[in-house]
Amino acid sequence: MLRGKNLIYPTDFTVEQLEALFCLTDKIIARPDQYANSCNDKILATLFFEPSTRTRLSFEAAMQRLGGKVLGFADSASSSATKGESLADTIRMISCYADIAAIRHPAEGAAHVAALHSFIPVINAGDGGHQHPTQTLTDLYTIRAKKGRFHDLTIGLCGDLKYGRTVHSLIHAMCRYENIHFVLISPPELQVPDYVIREIEAAPGCSYSVDPDLDSAIRQVDILYMTRVQRERFSSQEEYLRLKDSYILDTQKMQNAKPDMIVLHPMPIVNEITGAVDEDPRACYFVQAQYGMYVRMALILSLLGAEDGPATVCGGRMFEKTCQNPRPNGTVHCKNPKCVSNLDLTLPIRVKDGGKVCEYCDAAIEE
Ligand code: CP
Repeated sequence: MLRGKNLIYPTDFTVEQLEALFCLTDKIIARPDQYANSCNDKILATLFFEPSTRTRLSFEAAMQRLGGKVLGFADSASSSATKGESLADTIRMISCYADIAAIRHPAEGAAHVAALHSFIPVINAGDGGHQHPTQTLTDLYTIRAKKGRFHDLTIGLCGDLKYGRTVHSLIHAMCRYENIHFVLISPPELQVPDYVIREIEAAPGCSYSVDPDLDSAIRQVDILYMTRVQRERFSSQEEYLRLKDSYILDTQKMQNAKPDMIVLHPMPIVNEITGAVDEDPRACYFVQAQYGMYVRMALILSLLGAEDGPATVCGGRMFEKTCQNPRPNGTVHCKNPKCVSNLDLTLPIRVKDGGKVCEYCDAAIEE
């Protein structure tokens, strides 16, 4: 059902397709031996222009456990991007070498650009402060395993909600379910972007409240999604140092939480959860990270059409797509300085929502 698709946003798959993916994940966890040769002769490319431990290594472990092979780079310094090669040309070349690609890039919208120029499935493994859909698959699978439902939940999101791409993707995904209330817990400087608020407001089954006080917010939530304040996203180190310890979850705060509340975190954890909380059975972030590998196995199988037999999606052919048209002369541009269209000026401007929103990064377009 997902054969040949890209995954750029978590909502690129329907709710039914997600459930099928999670059922496949259940089967892989129960009988991994049955999938050990499902991707024989297939190659995953991991193109990581930003650091990663969990996402890159769980993708690589996932492909190897399916019998496939992996190539790629873990650092943009070891790719020809340092010589000035465009992302579009990089992905065209990778399409000749591999059957599927996972890309992480600091520019917002970079994975979408890659998908536009690729003829193999492209998976967004994180594009700047924008989206991180495979983390969301991991988060959703953990919620399904621990809470048994995707409806009637109060979800606290705490920390860096401005640059936290995992937060943006999780809200995006949860907005499709019934009776979801988000409690947004952040300092004023790190509130969620406007486009994410618009998504909540447009979702009939969802609502939100803002509560900058973790001590009070923790009492009402079913799920507490903690996040790191991300040093690498700040232009001012001074501001980062001022905000980095805004929230620290400790055992004292946990005493005020519901007995069946769960704590999730995409990790890495820096200082926002004390080590003693790890011992609390409600702390689910390590098992959440473990689920990530199995969910990514299911994702690779599904995108390659290999759920029930040999893969039917094949890369390694001569590339078929031609260059995008060069950027037309004009004054329209994306307001977001971190948007891929403002970092690679050869890219054409692409818009959606009646021309008001950038198709790459969801920020506003201006004349
Ligand atoms: N959750 C996550 O994206 O972790 P890494 O940065 O280690 O990949």
